[in-house]
Amino acid sequence: MSNPNFEFSTQPAMKNPELLNRLHQHRARLQGMGLKTAFQHDPDRFNQFHLRAAGLLADYSKNHIDESSRQDLLQLAEDAGVPKAINALFSGQPINHTEKRMALHTALRLQDSELPAASAVEVIGVRNRMLAVAEQIRNGQWLGHTGKPITTIVNIGVGGSDLGPMMAVQALQDFSQPGLNFHFVSNIDPAHISITLGQCDPETTLFIVASKTFTTLETLANAHAARQWLLNRLEETAVSRHFLAVSVNVKATNAFGIDPANVFPMWDWVGGRYSLWSAIGMSIAIAIGAPAFAAFLAGGRAMDEHFRTAPLMHNMPVMHALLGVWHINVMGCQSQAIICYDQNLTQFPAYLQQLDMESNGKSVQRNGKPVEWQTGAVLWGGVGTNTQHSFHQLFHQGAPLIPVDFLVPLRSHHPVDAQHAQLFSNCLAQSQALMEGRDRASVEAEMRAKGVSEADIALIAPHRVIPGNKPSTILVYERMSPAILGALIALYEHKVFVQSVIWNINPFDQWGVELGKQMSGEIFAAMNDEDKIKRLDGSTQALVRLFNVQN
Ligand code: F6P
Repeated sequence: MSNPNFEFSTQPAMKNPELLNRLHQHRARLQGMGLKTAFQHDPDRFNQFHLRAAGLLADYSKNHIDESSRQDLLQLAEDAGVPKAINALFSGQPINHTEKRMALHTALRLQDSELPAASAVEVIGVRNRMLAVAEQIRNGQWLGHTGKPITTIVNIGVGGSDLGPMMAVQALQDFSQPGLNFHFVSNIDPAHISITLGQCDPETTLFIVASKTFTTLETLANAHAARQWLLNRLEETAVSRHFLAVSVNVKATNAFGIDPANVFPMWDWVGGRYSLWSAIGMSIAIAIGAPAFAAFLAGGRAMDEHFRTAPLMHNMPVMHALLGVWHINVMGCQSQAIICYDQNLTQFPAYLQQLDMESNGKSVQRNGKPVEWQTGAVLWGGVGTNTQHSFHQLFHQGAPLIPVDFLVPLRSHHPVDAQHAQLFSNCLAQSQALMEGRDRASVEAEMRAKGVSEADIALIAPHRVIPGNKPSTILVYERMSPAILGALIALYEHKVFVQSVIWNINPFDQWGVELGKQMSGEIFAAMNDEDKIKRLDGSTQALVRLFNVQN
């Protein structure tokens, strides 16, 4: 590739007026017809519009899609150079061109024998060391300074060094070693570390300082606080039995005082939000052990293989991405909801928020020109059925159109009477209610049957009408497992990547976040310096002074 911007097509696909025109015509036609009618016309929609890959089934049939709109969306992917981009991603081209880096997180999911020679020794070495330490902790061989086994793991990190491991340890709790407690400290709010330490015993607690750069303010502050807490109770030499670190910056971990034997390197070609597959996943490995960690990687690898080889039309990450583009760029949706009917996935929406919004929250094309089309949407969500009783009202009757991804397992790890069947039914019911809604005639008929007066029917019926015709996708899997979680994460990673290719943006940098980091440092430095305070804007000045009165 001679193009230093790593653009995958000569002309951005989003600048093809004929194709976009056709997509808008499809929208008018399909939205006009309505999803309920689409099923009446073609009861076989499920068979036509679902895909299976890596243990997941994605039912796209309750979206405004038909064969001709699908073909035009696939054309968009072809025009954007998605096949070329997939090849560039997997072959380790420096497609993160603003940081001149590869984005080779997929290599971390490879088996030892499949790794490229250039990185094999290092990747295998770190992975094996991580799994060996995890095993020692799990079987009680890793002893704290006073000779007691470790029972509590505290991961100190933020962003990708927190959200991924925290989400995965929670998601895989049914596979976790009994007797081990996990905490995740991320916030610079001193309450987070203080409250966590209040639940820990220094003799049996192990801290993992997880930071790709080892310069992140929150992580370093919390790690220093944890170290001080330990040293207030145990002697200096205790640090080597109670602190591990994961970082690219081995110099900084040494300076912090972490025993080099306890440092697990990572590489600049692993982005923070893709790092749970590296030693940043140490807490996951401790929780689930080596065989299950291997299954987790295998799940991600199975989705990689599918993404790399399946034709675009049968390619789940590609179709997922295209439906997202359809919703954002053609239907004008500004947000995407993720509702997990799986208590294990409580943290999954928060994890996806970083993956999606830190990646595609961009408005400059790869070539430096501003984009002329909408890019990433606001991603949000929670766990069903809880969310039904909080914000689903907005889905059903609110003004914004919000496409939903529902995630649901077929089986539970904890069968209790018919509760899992109830959970599953609720998920299907939400998707169906979004699609079918409720028209005025049926609302009135029901009210009349209950003997409601005509005056009250006229007053109340309009409020009880549910418009329906709202899109949703259902992702089904047998039940949560390391392999399923690996596949789910890889699905969304690749979806985000394909969207970035269509929008012609770089999903692997995050300069906006860097600005906030820099400015917080500047304000912090100004807080006790009257000359610097005076140079701040009026609002910031007033609030700094307010703070200084209290502190
Ligand atoms: O929030 C910005 C960011 O750079 C993320 O991309 C990253 O996951 C997080 O900070 C933490 O960074 P580090 O692992 O270097 O501490």
